[in-house]
Amino acid sequence: MCGIVGYIGKRKAYPILIKGLHRLEYRGYDSAGVALINPEGQLNIYKAKGKVAELETYAADKDTDGCIGIAHTRWATHGEPNTVNAHPHYSESERLAIIHNGIIENYAVLKAGLQKEGYTFRSDTDTEVLVQLIEYTQVNRHVDLKTAVQLALQQVVGAYAIAVLDKDNPDTLLAARKGSPLVVGIGDDEYFLASDATPIVEYTDKVIYIEDEEVVVLRSEGVKELRSEGVKELRSEGVEELRSEGGKEGRSEGVEITTINNVQKTPEIKRLELSLSQLEKGGYPHFMLKEIFEQPRTLTDSMRGRVNVRQDNIALSGFIDNKERFLNAKRIIITACGTSWHAGLIAMYAIEEFAQIPVEVEYSSEFRYRKPVINKDDVVIAISQSGETADTLAAIQLAKEKGAFIFSICNVVGASIPRVSDSGCYTHVGPEIGVASTKAFTAQVVALTMLALCIGKEKGTMSKEQYLGIVRELGQIPDKIERVLGQNKRIADFAKTFTYAQNFIYLGRGYNFPVAMEGALKLKEISYIHAEGYPAAEMKHGPIALVSQEMPVVVVAPHCGTYEKVVSNIQEIKARKGRVIAVVTEGDQLVSRIADYTIEIPATEECLTPLLTVIPLQLLAYHIAVVKGCDVDQPRNLAKSVTVE
Ligand code: AGP
Repeated sequence: MCGIVGYIGKRKAYPILIKGLHRLEYRGYDSAGVALINPEGQLNIYKAKGKVAELETYAADKDTDGCIGIAHTRWATHGEPNTVNAHPHYSESERLAIIHNGIIENYAVLKAGLQKEGYTFRSDTDTEVLVQLIEYTQVNRHVDLKTAVQLALQQVVGAYAIAVLDKDNPDTLLAARKGSPLVVGIGDDEYFLASDATPIVEYTDKVIYIEDEEVVVLRSEGVKELRSEGVKELRSEGVEELRSEGGKEGRSEGVEITTINNVQKTPEIKRLELSLSQLEKGGYPHFMLKEIFEQPRTLTDSMRGRVNVRQDNIALSGFIDNKERFLNAKRIIITACGTSWHAGLIAMYAIEEFAQIPVEVEYSSEFRYRKPVINKDDVVIAISQSGETADTLAAIQLAKEKGAFIFSICNVVGASIPRVSDSGCYTHVGPEIGVASTKAFTAQVVALTMLALCIGKEKGTMSKEQYLGIVRELGQIPDKIERVLGQNKRIADFAKTFTYAQNFIYLGRGYNFPVAMEGALKLKEISYIHAEGYPAAEMKHGPIALVSQEMPVVVVAPHCGTYEKVVSNIQEIKARKGRVIAVVTEGDQLVSRIADYTIEIPATEECLTPLLTVIPLQLLAYHIAVVKGCDVDQPRNLAKSVTVE
């Protein structure tokens, strides 16, 4: 949702913070702000409505000096997007400043208590209540900043990642988390903190992932000690540790971690696997188009070391290490949100077909409150690109409490969801910056298909020929996607003819019904055109009433078991003058004669067709949104990872 970033060290903080905000802007862009303690000890806050660029313009002629600071880019939850509700927020005395990602659910109660104590509030946010509570605790309990934050957070119900500055402690940067992500970067005599590693990677690859209910204190004088002492140490100790990847705890004087109940914790330093080039647009006009065109490579990366075409085999370590859980599973529950949920729906078709285990696909937000029946021999597969989606995290917690085995499919190494799962599979597509998920979706489908094939082969519920056929085809998919991408220009051309549309219908059957849902979601979220995805046969039960010349209908119609059925669905639409865009298999004879536009995909195994049929739908949505002048990478009202419920 929101993006938070902080810095303490020897360098000027402001440019580092602003650069960090630009990296995190995909998390939310309703407003932005920064707080800095300058060499004279003043605590200055500057904030502006809208994107980070607005903040830069506003602060251009202000005092932005100081080697310690925090900054925030907002996705509004409490209080409308405006400058007053923008973060950071001062405490009553303006001695403290706070930034926050998350939701304080009991803020109204806390606020009422503070108002009784004479505290006043400038904004409508839940966050301002927290900084007031911290100050109130500090003043009335006569405790230091860390203790005041611990005591205040003990009273908080909800999710938070916060960072706090105290002008009376100009060499201390304090942060804490529960539910919302927070990572600390260990530099050479400097420290960084952020919602994810993207603002940190250009400065250091050594990070600490802060756990739930942990408070971290970063002190700059510690950095001095570290420079003199630590480097030697790190050189001697750290590297060794890094070689052992998260073995013994690293010692870094400038970092102190405790729980909110003041239990001392020792930081575990990890090495980042991210590269700066992965965060740049690479010459594309938008991250979304770059990520669509990355899919041949990202799927090759996702299958590397897992799909061995030469040995006709798939090896998924998460499955191999937990084979019995899958082979004895009475049921598989898939829980996810948005695009990840669509990948889960495709997995249902594959797992039931190849492994013959009943699968239920759940919206995490409904699953977590539905009081579902979960048994110890259930396997719960959680799918999340970001690994931070609050509803999916909560669904996992619920399933864990009931003894289910948690297997997660995630794209962000070290994120919360993989950290609370029993096992899983990373999709390895690199950072996905565009808010509309594309390359993560196809990699999720590949990971889930690999899992279904592994279980099916092990259980003997699929023939060796079928298994070998699909394994070999998987190896062909990257090249076949390359061929589909070759039609980008043509899709861009006819996309122009559809920008008038207010509504779209997407149709598909079997494995491609979820693709129709995904195509509709892509169009909705980046072009703001209303669109619905349906099982093609469902048309006759209502939606066909919507069909007219004004209603474009996208039909996913590759050659597969239900092809003829889809052809008759298209004829029903054409009979009512609907305009049909059809995704068909190369050499298609029937549909290409009746549809208004066809986009061809190479032939492949039915269960793998979604990996090809979704590409034209990603491109169609992208080009319609671009022609409409929409902000494709940062669509209105959306954020890349939904860390609040
Ligand atoms: C998809 O384009 C959207 N960004 C959104 O629906 C997303 O898929 C959903 O929020 C789930 O995110 P996750 O995969 O990071 O959990």
